[in-house]
Amino acid sequence: MEASPLIEEIENLKNSFLQVSDRLVKDISRQEKIMLRSDRRQKKEYDELQRKFAEVAALQQEIEETQKEVIFTMGAIGESRSKETGNHVKRVAEYSRMLALHYGLTEAESEMIKQASPMHDIGKVAIPDLILNKPGRFNEAEFEIMKTHAQIGYDMLKHSNRPLLKMAATIAYEHHEKYNGTGYPQGTYGENIHIYGRITAIADVFDALGSERCYKKAWEDEAIFNLFREQSGEHFDPKLVAIFFKHLDSFLLVRRQFADQF
Ligand SMILES: [Fe+2]
Ligand SMILES: [Fe+2]
Repeated sequence: MEASPLIEEIENLKNSFLQVSDRLVKDISRQEKIMLRSDRRQKKEYDELQRKFAEVAALQQEIEETQKEVIFTMGAIGESRSKETGNHVKRVAEYSRMLALHYGLTEAESEMIKQASPMHDIGKVAIPDLILNKPGRFNEAEFEIMKTHAQIGYDMLKHSNRPLLKMAATIAYEHHEKYNGTGYPQGTYGENIHIYGRITAIADVFDALGSERCYKKAWEDEAIFNLFREQSGEHFDPKLVAIFFKHLDSFLLVRRQFADQF
């Protein structure tokens, strides 16, 4: 018996439906394979990118650490020329950070001052040993030579574009300026002296007076405090002297923590 046209039609429809769905299944599975492949590629690219990020971050860290170490070492070289201890720069660094923070500078800037302040005397590398290590007081000519270490330090550092070295240049230049304008090398006064210079000045003198040097004994604390009171607004920024006395205990603690070992 011949199939009715209706059944034939349905058979045809079924066949073409099967063909179409077959093609669809193939298409979809091909599509899925492609997607899987591109997923894997994307994942690989993503992983690779992450790895590179991590590498860059590690390098950045390395560069920063190296910069800090170089700066600290340069500072120590400057100080060792004048027969000071490595701990002198550590103490000055810490005092400077504390003064900066209490003065109202940001945590980040205060941390930078801590790192840059050890370089204040880097210019001493150019001062003859005979003068640097002279026991007793300088005569006028010797003092003039000694004074050049501020300008020399500045000239050594001023060409850098690195923020930390720029800061170190300012500190080298201005750490012997006095609030009343009688310091060197420029004789600027008051808040015209950069805050970095004013901070390092007080940190450096506090530490220098309390330490024994080739030309002097360490001062008693009371004598240092008296000088600070007298020199408030003269040698030193009065705001910083006030901060020093307000937080005296923490300054003395740092001095004990980084005491020189003999
Ligand atoms: Fe100095
Ligand atoms: Fe110093």
